Amino acid sequence: MGSREGTLVSTTDKDVAELLTILDELGATVVVAGGWGIDALLGHPSRAHRDLDLLIDEEYVTPLVDDLTARGWLVAADLRPIRIELSDATGSQFVDLHPARTDGAGGWRQSGPDDETYHYAADALVTGHIAGREVTCLAPGKQIELHQGYAPRPVDHHDLSVLNLVDMLPADPDQVDIEVCDGSNLPTAPELVDLYGSVGWSAYTREPETLRAAVAGSARVVTARLHGRLVGLARVISDGATICYLQDVLVHPDVQGHGLGRQLVVEAFAPYDKVRQKVLITDDEPRQRAFYQSLGFSELRESGEGTLRGFVRFS
Ligand SMILES: CC(C)(COP(=O)(O)OP(=O)(O)OC[C@H]1O[C@@H](n2cnc3c(N)ncnc32)[C@H](O)[C@@H]1OP(=O)(O)O)[C@@H](O)C(=O)NCCC(=O)NCCS
Repeated sequence: MGSREGTLVSTTDKDVAELLTILDELGATVVVAGGWGIDALLGHPSRAHRDLDLLIDEEYVTPLVDDLTARGWLVAADLRPIRIELSDATGSQFVDLHPARTDGAGGWRQSGPDDETYHYAADALVTGHIAGREVTCLAPGKQIELHQGYAPRPVDHHDLSVLNLVDMLPADPDQVDIEVCDGSNLPTAPELVDLYGSVGWSAYTREPETLRAAVAGSARVVTARLHGRLVGLARVISDGATICYLQDVLVHPDVQGHGLGRQLVVEAFAPYDKVRQKVLITDDEPRQRAFYQSLGFSELRESGEGTLRGFVRFS
């Protein structure tokens, strides 16, 4: 599959969705492969992608090329029957088409160099999501197989760690260890920087030792680990009697949407059942609102507690 590292251009999930709409209009059957195929398994982009790799029913290759060139796209490399690559007029997105034919049993066969044929059996195809729309993509096991036999580049290490996560999570969420921390099992500063950095909380990651001290000084810290890797954390500040404050809850983007955030918050608040006042400050985004509302929180002005007001001072 085509992959060119070291470039700045990136195909976004919106670009992919637009291309898939064109394919739908043509009635073409496609399978999303390559890096986008892996992010389709995750359900969101985990890295930049220069191109979109598609296995496409060979009879639709020419109609698609005609359609795209009429829209100003250019043929960047025509190596049919193995592959044909097109770029949009600005050179900011690429699509790598791999013509394939059905194997008569729900799978596909694709021509490779030197008369080789690659086979994607029906059970190597699964449903994924890109920009909220369903796509057919390669199963995690098939993707892992395609990553064997060559020295992995940094991007392959990234893709394999994503594949390991998606391969395990839906099948076995019990593989995630939710742990309450005491002095002996607190995350290390590099682990915290990795996790907090993954959700973009740079105010914390700029000072790793302060971050570690903040976590160590919290009343209750709960972590989520997948095969030892820190993938989530929640921490509470509390006097243990009248108030508890949920300072942070975060889940690595690779494993969001599998119920870990909920488990972490429930476990973080577990000893504070009798504490009346549970508080938090969060970003003004619909998904955060949905997350906390699903956990029984309401905004201060909607809490039914009269005319309460919150004050904060950041320095
Ligand atoms: C907020 C966050 C912790 C949620 O973690 P998660 O593991 O993805 O959440 P869960 O899978 O446990 O979802 C729990 C509930 O939250 C809601 N939810 C979570 N993500 C959502 C989203 N993107 N859009 C809408 N609702 C969402 C769902 O209603 C879900 O309810 P359900 O269990 O009934 O389906 C995670 O998205 C994250 O780390 N974000 C970045 C850091 C952050 O913003 N933290 C919160 C502010 S302190």
